[in-house]
This record gives sequence, structure tokens and C-alpha cells, in this order.
Amino acid sequence: MSKVRKAVIPAAGFGTRFLPATKAMPKEMLPVVDKPTIQYIVEEAIASGIEEILIITGKNKRAIEDHFDHSVELELELEKKGKTELLELVNSISDMVDIHYIRQKEAKGLGHAIYCAKTFVGDEPFAVLLGDDIVYTEDTPCLKQMINCYDDYETSVLGVQTVKQEDVSKYGIVDGKQLADNVYSVNGLVEKPAMEEAPSNVAILGRYIINPAIFDILKDTEPGKGGEIQLTDALKELALQEDMVAYDFEGKRYDVGDKLGFLEATVETALRRDDLREDFLTYLEKIVEKETVQNIK
Ligand code: G1P
Repeated sequence: MSKVRKAVIPAAGFGTRFLPATKAMPKEMLPVVDKPTIQYIVEEAIASGIEEILIITGKNKRAIEDHFDHSVELELELEKKGKTELLELVNSISDMVDIHYIRQKEAKGLGHAIYCAKTFVGDEPFAVLLGDDIVYTEDTPCLKQMINCYDDYETSVLGVQTVKQEDVSKYGIVDGKQLADNVYSVNGLVEKPAMEEAPSNVAILGRYIINPAIFDILKDTEPGKGGEIQLTDALKELALQEDMVAYDFEGKRYDVGDKLGFLEATVETALRRDDLREDFLTYLEKIVEKETVQNIK
């Protein structure tokens, strides 16, 4: 059985839900507290044992490459001013892991973006982490939990959690049968079904471990929902060819592609930070007193 060593992070989307912030800046660079969202994703991959990362970029995404690269001027300036802690912080980002980039030249959907990773992936199982989903865990990182599941079942794994019935139309939904506490076998998949048509409320939440056989399928996958080549459609086909499981991972998942989800991630991340918690909590306690909240206009 091959080890899961490689991860693909699609980051080519326009980020229209965050306009105007994303007009000239990639949405993946929006900070949750003081760290770009994509860095949370890269850190999860590294903490899960991933050795090589491919980021699929598009137009206006140069800032992502600059973020994970050395910034000689900044490093010299910090060194000159004796700001050693900041210097170490900045250096640690560029030394994190081997990151490769490829540009998706046309916005044809997530399935097409993943197809761009074919040469990078080769003939190994690989992880996919979507940048809109940040998962906070106290112990084992989300992707590591999934790799453990892959090691147990030796087949493709979809990261899922149950969502509210009224939210099923935002996600890829699993038609499955429970195999163990946190594991379902995947019999079918539907991309963003209407509430009445959803086979369950088990939703794919931005984490996948996929066998390379997906590339032969993606080559011929026709545009689906929204006129885009959907990864979910290709996975549905793969599930017909071989076993596939869905793993209900532990952790708090934030949809940082959504404004409310982004705010939740920001508030809760700040509350978990020793340097901010106390003052921020005092502020929040004050602000939730009804009168204060109503005075903010
Ligand atoms: C994508 C996938 C969908 C998945 C979701 C998770 O949709 O197509 O199957 O459930 O990510 O966040 P998107 O939100 O990019 O439209």
C-alpha cells in the first residue's frame, strides 16, 4: 500500500463572495486573526505528514507564491532592527515544505482544477484540501485522521460531517451505509442536491484522499452542476469502479468562504490565542450586553 505523501490545494477560484476584498487579492490570503487562510491549510497538511504540496493557482494569485517564498528585504530589515522573533516567524513560513504551483488557465470547475495535478501526483494516492474549509482540532489534524482511515480501508476516503437538512444544497452529498462508528461506505454521490432530493445529510467538507485512477475518469467528465466539471461527479464514477469510504472526522469546521463562517473562525481563533483571549473576552462580554450591541450602527 502506498503512503499518502502528496497534497493538492486548489486556489484558483475568483472569491466572488468576498468582493471587493478579493478584487486584487486572492481570497486565500484573507487573514483569520493574523494568518492567511491558506496557511492554516498548509499547516494542517504538514502536521498530517504530507511531504509535497501542489497549489493550483490562477490569475491574481501571485501573493500566495510570495507568501510561501523568502522575502529578502523584509528579512534584512527585521534582522537590522533585531526583531528576532518576527524574523523566525517569517523564515519558518518559507521553510515549511516543498510547495509547487501550477496555473489553471480556465475556470472550468474543481474537477478540472484537480485534473491539472495529474503529472504532480503520478501514480500515488493523494490528498485534496479545499481552502474554504478550515478545521480546528485539539489533537489529531483532520487530514491525519483521514490518512489513518485510508490506512485501515486502503481505498479513497471523503472527509464528511453531517449538516443541517436545509444546508445540503451547498455540498457534495453522500449516499452511503454506515460501516463503523465514523465510517460509511459510499454507494453514490450527488453534487449540491435540492433538499428533497438529497440521499442523506452527510456532506463532503473539503478533505479527500483519492486514488490516482480518478485522473482517467476526470479526463472524460462532462460539465455538471453549474456548468462546471465537478470533482463529485468523477468521484461518483470512481465509487462504481472501486470501494470508497466517507469518514466523519472530528473537529470544528469553519466555512471561511462564507462571510458568517469567516467571522466565526475569526472570533473563535482569537479566543484560542493566549495573547488575545483575555482582552478579547472582556471586549466581547461588554459588547453582547444588549444595549451596547444595539448602539453599534
Ligand atoms: C466544493 C465541492 C462540494 C463540497 C464543498 C465543500 O463546493 O464541489 O462537493 O461539498 O466544496 O466545501 P464549493 O463550495 O467549492 O462550491
